[in-house]
Amino acid sequence: MALRTLLLHLDSSPHPSAFDRIVALDGGADEVLSYGAVTEDAVRDLVHGAIFTRGPKDLHNTAIFIGGTDMAAGERLLAAARKAFFGPLRVSLMLDSNGSNTTAVAAVAKLRTAGEVAGCRVVVTASTGPVGMRAAGLLAKAGADVVATSRTTQGAAAAAEAIQRRFGVAVRPVAMADSSQAAAVLDGAQLLLNAGGAGVCLVPRDAWTGRAGLRAVADVNAVPPLGIEGIEVTDNGAERDGVIAFGALGVGGLKMKVHKACIAKLFERNDLVLDAEAIAEVAGLT
Ligand SMILES: NC(=O)c1ccc[n+]([C@@H]2O[C@H](COP(=O)([O-])OP(=O)(O)OC[C@H]3O[C@@H](n4cnc5c(N)ncnc54)[C@H](OP(=O)(O)O)[C@@H]3O)[C@@H](O)[C@H]2O)c1
Repeated sequence: MALRTLLLHLDSSPHPSAFDRIVALDGGADEVLSYGAVTEDAVRDLVHGAIFTRGPKDLHNTAIFIGGTDMAAGERLLAAARKAFFGPLRVSLMLDSNGSNTTAVAAVAKLRTAGEVAGCRVVVTASTGPVGMRAAGLLAKAGADVVATSRTTQGAAAAAEAIQRRFGVAVRPVAMADSSQAAAVLDGAQLLLNAGGAGVCLVPRDAWTGRAGLRAVADVNAVPPLGIEGIEVTDNGAERDGVIAFGALGVGGLKMKVHKACIAKLFERNDLVLDAEAIAEVAGLT
């Protein structure tokens, strides 16, 4: 009898994400074992519970998904899970705190349909959140000149440091205190990605329209008001004022496909680590 595919879901937030549980089931997990408020010190025993129950040749039927709203916490849980493996006793892992990797990969893939990103100036507004940090890192790794904003100088600097640490690439930290500064920040940009919180408009219409050189804009905020004024949430390559636009649902459709494809991939073998770059590969971005 074929073994059931089991996903151990370790979430740093108090309530394990319902979204991540549902996508896991839709992506091919037969059962999802979810744990909330998981901290690093709890990871070893949870992982051992997963790797000691099936023999090495069957371990590809077990995998681990790490989520939660806090990106840094997710990275710590991922490191702790990897440390708990030894010899052939390991299972595949995926990190997607707050949809960070899958959403960032989908947004970058959409922007790339508007042309090469290498050598282009890309502004990522609110790059301090999980999605923005991953997107800024992936774009910089692909050779873009990335401007990473936050409302505060300290926030932008901390995000740039975290991106440098994780991706080994530099981005330019820029403070954008509010939307009135968006036009100045967009000076010279070819691409714009808004990664701001839900229901916050960071880029007013007159900041991005009529701007020479701007090729494409993408927004991951689906909650009105949208992050980029003047686009539609359903835009999926629509032309708006001569610029190619992607709204959050346009990005989200691809995000869902990538997320489910990653879950399915986890059960193909027992030694995958699906973090930003590997997830980009699953999406065909490399
Ligand atoms: N389309 C999809 O498939 C999908 C999937 C997952 C997430 N999302 C969306 O992607 C976006 C980013 O997600 P996330 O988890 O990375 O975001 P987040 O952590 O909630 O917020 C990102 C950044 O937005 C800024 N921000 C938050 N509230 C603000 C406010 N009231 N005014 C101005 N700036 C504010 C903050 O930056 P500073 O404090 O540094 O300024 C924050 O670090 C969200 O809108 C989320 O809903 C979309």
